[in-house]
Amino acid sequence: MIRWFTAGESHGQGLLIIVEGIPAALPIDEEYIGFHLGRRQKGYGRGGRMLIEQDHAKIMSGVRHGKTLGSPIGMVIENKDWANWTEAMAVEHIENPSQEGRNRRVTRIRPGHADLPGTMKYGFDDVRNSLERASARETAARVAAGAVAMRFLEEFGIKMRSHVISIGSVWAKSSDDIDWAAVEQSPVRCADNIAAEKMIGEIDSAKDAGDTVGGTVEIIAENVPIGLGSHVHWDRKIDGLISQALMSINAVKAVSIGPGWDVIGDWGSKVQDVIEPVTDPDNPWQRKTNRAGGIEGGMTDGMPVVARFAIKPIATLHNPLPSVDLDTGEPVQAHFERSDVCQVPPAGVIGEAMVALVLADALLDKFGGDSIAESLRNYQGYIKTVGPRKIYK
Ligand SMILES: Cc1cc2nc3c(=O)[nH]c(=O)nc-3n(C[C@H](O)[C@H](O)[C@H](O)COP(=O)(O)O)c2cc1C
Repeated sequence: MIRWFTAGESHGQGLLIIVEGIPAALPIDEEYIGFHLGRRQKGYGRGGRMLIEQDHAKIMSGVRHGKTLGSPIGMVIENKDWANWTEAMAVEHIENPSQEGRNRRVTRIRPGHADLPGTMKYGFDDVRNSLERASARETAARVAAGAVAMRFLEEFGIKMRSHVISIGSVWAKSSDDIDWAAVEQSPVRCADNIAAEKMIGEIDSAKDAGDTVGGTVEIIAENVPIGLGSHVHWDRKIDGLISQALMSINAVKAVSIGPGWDVIGDWGSKVQDVIEPVTDPDNPWQRKTNRAGGIEGGMTDGMPVVARFAIKPIATLHNPLPSVDLDTGEPVQAHFERSDVCQVPPAGVIGEAMVALVLADALLDKFGGDSIAESLRNYQGYIKTVGPRKIYK
């Protein structure tokens, strides 16, 4: 079982991450985690914050001589921007804090953010007390945790991918053969160059209007073994677990497994994936289609796991919406502080991390193991048993 936690405010000193339950002897280093943190920082439409930060997760515990120890893996990501917020975000009590610039109380509640419910729920008189943790800065910590999970999954040949399939009204053309190198090079993480140009245009238009734009992302996990998750109870169904993990990403408003809404109007004969006679004993249950997104009955079915999510346009607008002041209840324009125009490209990297954490947990649930060698042994023993019963014992 993997348990993981994050802590840290957007403009605090940094982010803390603990990942517990990874077996011993998994090779891992800061460079590998940093690679994924770097992928999250890119993307056309990001705000000025990404120019300040150069995220690096320092491993504090759980790794020795380049390999995990089986003990909790602790990591720290420093916020470079902290230097500009030492008074506004000070841990210690400050008598009569100044009300200038960043130190000023935030009272102009932004619609669409955690500002109103967070401030009411926790009894704050400064919206900053909730907006700091609600900020997607926290997703850097998720990517660090997810990178550990990805490294673990790689031992079993599982590879995480993501790409952007829409921004604003522009959709990429669908393809069964995505050029992943092109996705990594694309400023909007989209393999369709023509659509990518138009997506950039959508982001520019939104920026010029002082507005924001959302989109859709697809996450793919390749080479996932058949039988992760379970049909026997609601909270063991892997489609449910993946959906919750993706829905928890800031601003995500819809999740589908496979094509979801796109096939719901079709007849049943067009929506299922026909099971083909087995021709390759090493890869017994491959199908010509994957409309199920690699999950049937709450279990992985041997095809790639595919999930999509829709992420809404960001709530902090350069051209702010009407709102009210927390103190007076009078009309004001909502608060604005440095913000992204489009967060769709980095959201894919965060989605990969979240799905990786779910799959790593499900893999350990099925195969166990306190060391990588033990987990792999159990995995290989199982793989030998899946296939037509006359061939596999
Ligand atoms: C990568 C990423 C970056 C984001 N950047 C911003 C931002 O700069 N400004 C903002 O208001 N919201 C941003 N968001 C979205 C907010 O964090 C989110 O809307 C807020 O936490 C409220 O949650 P909800 O939209 O799920 O209700 C970002 C989300 C992600 C995934």
